[in-house]
Amino acid sequence: MARINPHYKELRGSYLFSEIARRRAAFQKEHPEADIISLGIGDVTRPLPEAAAAAMRAAVDELTREETFRGYGPEQGYDFLREAIARHDYRDRGIDVRPEEVFVSDGSKCDVGNIQEIFSQDAVVAVQDPVYPVYVDSNVMAGRAGAYDRETNRYRNIVYLTCSRENGFKPSLPGRKVDLIYLCYPNNPTGVTLTRDELKRWVDYAKENGSIILYDSAYEAFIREDGVPHSIYEIEGAREVAIEFRSFSKTAGFTGVRCAYTVVPRDLKAKDDEGGDVVVADLWNRRHTTKFNGVSYVTQRGAAALYTPEGKAQIAALVDYYMANAQLIREGLRAAGIEACGGVNAPYIWLKTPDGYDSWAFFDKLLREAHIVGTPGVGFGQAGEGYFRLSAFGSRENTERAVERIAKLKW
Ligand code: MLT
Repeated sequence: MARINPHYKELRGSYLFSEIARRRAAFQKEHPEADIISLGIGDVTRPLPEAAAAAMRAAVDELTREETFRGYGPEQGYDFLREAIARHDYRDRGIDVRPEEVFVSDGSKCDVGNIQEIFSQDAVVAVQDPVYPVYVDSNVMAGRAGAYDRETNRYRNIVYLTCSRENGFKPSLPGRKVDLIYLCYPNNPTGVTLTRDELKRWVDYAKENGSIILYDSAYEAFIREDGVPHSIYEIEGAREVAIEFRSFSKTAGFTGVRCAYTVVPRDLKAKDDEGGDVVVADLWNRRHTTKFNGVSYVTQRGAAALYTPEGKAQIAALVDYYMANAQLIREGLRAAGIEACGGVNAPYIWLKTPDGYDSWAFFDKLLREAHIVGTPGVGFGQAGEGYFRLSAFGSRENTERAVERIAKLKW
């Protein structure tokens, strides 16, 4: 009889966003008339930028003609997209990233979930708490997390870097040596960002300890304030210690289209069992070519069009739209006497639940009395208990209605 990977049994419940969808569906079934507004999962609502849509239509036409038809593309992505990314997202901003260091994929969720498999089974992993659950769950599946401790609600072998109100939701450096550090900035779920000096401390730590930083920068385009680093490679020495993940999902309405990329600099090395240096990009390339057959040509043409002047202007308008929602939510919460952070350089607002409500009790209250779905903070880790996340990715109309509904709630 085939046996399962035993580590799957160590996973806690269902994946956070599936659980939320399940609860929402159950409520909707009981109350079919309820007009539910979703500010839960960070799924975008604005249509595709026209520049991307036009490029995709043209690409489909190419595929319908014998002379321009294409089958498999390069697993790492077409040169036209890798070059556009390296140039516009990095070189034009004075950052050294080369096209061959860019690996195009079908999403940052997949990349941040898959990246751990190129590292050793006994690598010590550090995550922020609260944290995007994929980092933890993918390491649990790989058998790296150890047993789940029901008292602390944490895995024994994972090093948790607590982000609390007391430290401004910015974690301290690990108290012990760790091998892999997942950082996400602008942060999901708290919406907090780091300054260049704060990020430099992490790069310095990684250099001193031989660690690798897995830097999830999926929300980079939402940074509005000066002085906030857009890429970890703005920090000197980061090319030797960091992998960066970026996505077109949230900026260009690509959550359904699917396209993202990961930068693995050639300067980044890790040790093999004999103590020799291995270029990490070669391993990621090996994994990518073995398990992935590339993002569709049509999608990559759409993504490349986002770097044209029209594409850039359309993306800027999308980001403005969502960030205006973020401001409405922040102001609405403040007016309702609810403490919150985020929503300034990130599309998420992280709020403190009113006294007497834990994260799931607040979820239920919001769903039952205001017909709003959000994300319970505790779903992102134990340090998220007593917090709640609202997303700015709704339509303007729904965001305004949600704020009005929250204003009417009694605690
Ligand atoms: C979120 O809501 O945290 C994100 O939508 C999750 C994701 O991008 O996979």
